[in-house]
Amino acid sequence: MKTIAFIRAAMRLAAGAALVVAPTVFAGDPPAQYAASCGACHAVGVAGAPATGNEAAWAPRMEKGMDALVASVRNGLGAMPPGGLCNSCSDEDYAALITYMSTAQ
Ligand code: HEC
Repeated sequence: MKTIAFIRAAMRLAAGAALVVAPTVFAGDPPAQYAASCGACHAVGVAGAPATGNEAAWAPRMEKGMDALVASVRNGLGAMPPGGLCNSCSDEDYAALITYMSTAQ
């Protein structure tokens, strides 16, 4: 059966390709939700958002404590909408995102 042999070969190729393109997770990689939510504004500091990796911009924010920062995201703050565009995020997700953004990359 030529068709089956072909499908087998194609599947082997696809599996090989998947191995090659599988993203490698390095320490310091952004949390999964970053690109589609927080990153939209914080990547470049839109509308006064403290920019990702800019520790100096984040320092005064971090002084409020993580709980207060998570609350700011939940409730929204200034130009940041409630939830920061990630409505499925848990408080732990927000904390991980904040830790990522406030740390030099
Ligand atoms: C639409 C743009 C936008 C998005 C999306 C966004 N932010 Fe923000 N964020 C801002 C702006 C603007 C500020 C500054 C607000 C101010 O101080 O007036 C800010 C401030 C913050 C602060 C500091 C709060 C404080 O109390 O000082 C934290 C923490 C934060 N953002 C986390 C996040 C997280 C986590 C996400 C993703 C889940 C996110 N942001 C998504 C625009 C955004």
